[in-house]
Amino acid sequence: MQVISNIQEMQQWSRQKRLQGLKIGLVPTMGYLHEGHLSLVRTARQQCDVVIVSLFVNPMQFGVGEDFEEYPRDISRDVALLENESADILFAPEVRDMYPPGYSFFVETEGEITGKMCEASRPGHFRGVTTVVSKLFNICGPDKAYFGQKDAQQVTILEKMVKELNFPLEIIRVPIVREPDGLAMSSRNVYLSSEERREALVLYRSLQAAEKAIREGEKSVEGVKEIITAVINSSPLAQIDYVEINRADDLGSIDRIEGAVLIALAVKFGTTRLIDNLIVEV
Ligand code: PAJ
Repeated sequence: MQVISNIQEMQQWSRQKRLQGLKIGLVPTMGYLHEGHLSLVRTARQQCDVVIVSLFVNPMQFGVGEDFEEYPRDISRDVALLENESADILFAPEVRDMYPPGYSFFVETEGEITGKMCEASRPGHFRGVTTVVSKLFNICGPDKAYFGQKDAQQVTILEKMVKELNFPLEIIRVPIVREPDGLAMSSRNVYLSSEERREALVLYRSLQAAEKAIREGEKSVEGVKEIITAVINSSPLAQIDYVEINRADDLGSIDRIEGAVLIALAVKFGTTRLIDNLIVEV
């Protein structure tokens, strides 16, 4: 695997591969890779001729007082994991090259898809995500780009962006990878103390309780939210940031459970904020 940090070199590499008629897969990440990221890489490996994994801890998507400085980083470990998955390129640009002094162009979304869930508690977060992902698309020129269902709102926004801004590529959604006990894998799980780690299981348990209630006939969104809240509040360390139930395809608001719904949560343990979600189809 080759490591490229220069933007022009990355663009040239991709241009050459395209001229050779090869299909390019891109897996954008912020590094500190785990099995969730690797499942995106494996899917890309199966579907494309060449695979680029990008590693960039994007300052633009972190708010003031968030964990940009402390975000876990270990590039040599990431390189070893990606060698093992036969990725072709690790693209790891520098902040000063992605956002040189005087940088002034941004990609923004409006409307119902952004005003809620993670955007409500992290204002400006998705502007950072859509801007950096657009730049990565322009630099790497993928035919397919891979994103995890773990960040459900992120992938929904990016699908809409690709459609509405006519990016010539396809977004592929990959299912959530969980630890054996159910906790969704995340680079941020390393922040949890052993007690918080144990109690973090309430996230997935609350989603399972919600699914069970829906399968047994619960139709009220408020009713399902109450069930979820009760399970999460059984942990004294958990602090709910949001519990939301929206239409799965466009995140539109609903008050009755119908069709495919996305149940999404964000819960804080100390300063660590975890997210999880489940799509239930009635
Ligand atoms: P990061 O949190 O590193 O995640 C990179 C990709 O891995 C995302 O598409 C995310 O949804 C996926 N992922 C993370 N945990 C997963 C899990 N347990 N199962 C399946 N997929 C999982 O998301 C970002 O980085 C950034 O916002 C980025 C898109 C790279 C833009 O900066």
